Amino acid sequence: MHPLPSEITPAGVYAQRRLYLQSGLALAAGSALGVAGATTPDGTLPILKGQPSALPGVNTMERPTTLADATSYNNFYEFSTDKAEPAKRAHVLVGRPWTVRVDGLVNKPMDIGLEDLLRLSPMEERIYRLRCVEGWSMVIPWVGYSLSKLIDKVQPQGSAKFLEFTTLADPAIMPGVRSRVLDWPYVEGLRMDEARHPLTLLAMGMYGQVLPGQNGAPVRLVVPWKYGFKSAKSLVRIRFVEQQPVSAWGRAAPGEYGFYSNVNPQVNHPRWSQATERRIGEGGLFAPRRQTQMFNGYAEQVAHLYAGMDLKKFF
Ligand code: MTE
Repeated sequence: MHPLPSEITPAGVYAQRRLYLQSGLALAAGSALGVAGATTPDGTLPILKGQPSALPGVNTMERPTTLADATSYNNFYEFSTDKAEPAKRAHVLVGRPWTVRVDGLVNKPMDIGLEDLLRLSPMEERIYRLRCVEGWSMVIPWVGYSLSKLIDKVQPQGSAKFLEFTTLADPAIMPGVRSRVLDWPYVEGLRMDEARHPLTLLAMGMYGQVLPGQNGAPVRLVVPWKYGFKSAKSLVRIRFVEQQPVSAWGRAAPGEYGFYSNVNPQVNHPRWSQATERRIGEGGLFAPRRQTQMFNGYAEQVAHLYAGMDLKKFF
């Protein structure tokens, strides 16, 4: 059951709209790029549009999942392990002042506010598949730009081999953080070349509007060739490190969630097959499952990153 728009349009959304307007990015309604003062047709969130990405092979031609499905079936354990709950609770993330600390082995560490993140690079729209380790998938038109733009800005040192991503863990607003389902905060990691790959997206919007809380407002990672849990939501820190970071899922169950977590139909999760997936919105549990593709269909772009690696060992 979807909540009524009135239930998912809290005061914070209006604060967020003000914040985007103040950021100087607000353009006349109808502009092709940037944040407009107008809201999306459902009246909930500020508009954030991007130019269609010019990266070759980036946009899947598959039909996007509906906005309603993409915003009502979510994994966001800081709020709940129930997929319907983040939609009811995570709006508290929208409209808060937000800063991402970018530090570690870089020449120019910085605390970068949301307004500056929005201005850092032109926004692109990229239609990516997202495949969850649980065996379901969606197709989502994200709005953002390559994480490499931010990486370039902070100038990593030669010793920086990995990036560690930390997300918000605020027990005052996130009931899940008061439970022990994971060792909080949520942490993820990427190797430097994975993080610099142009497909790795720093997303601030989807479906032409700013990110809803349940999808990781106000800024998240989207790594389309990896299982969804690598795409950390609501980022607060990006640290450049020499050693491979230990992710929250890796700490919880090292035998089940490897560091690489590349979508790989040939390597099963210890408790279930990864060969097929259910596309959300396609006729419920009894709809025919789709074949999962190697690297989630992005092999042409990313397979070279793993040349010579045993992907059963480095799963
Ligand atoms: N990020 C945080 N901070 N907390 C989470 O629980 N869940 C992950 C990922 N990012 C998660 C997270 C998982 S398991 C998936 S499949 C995707 O978010 C789901 O993203 P979506 O809800 O936008 O589809």
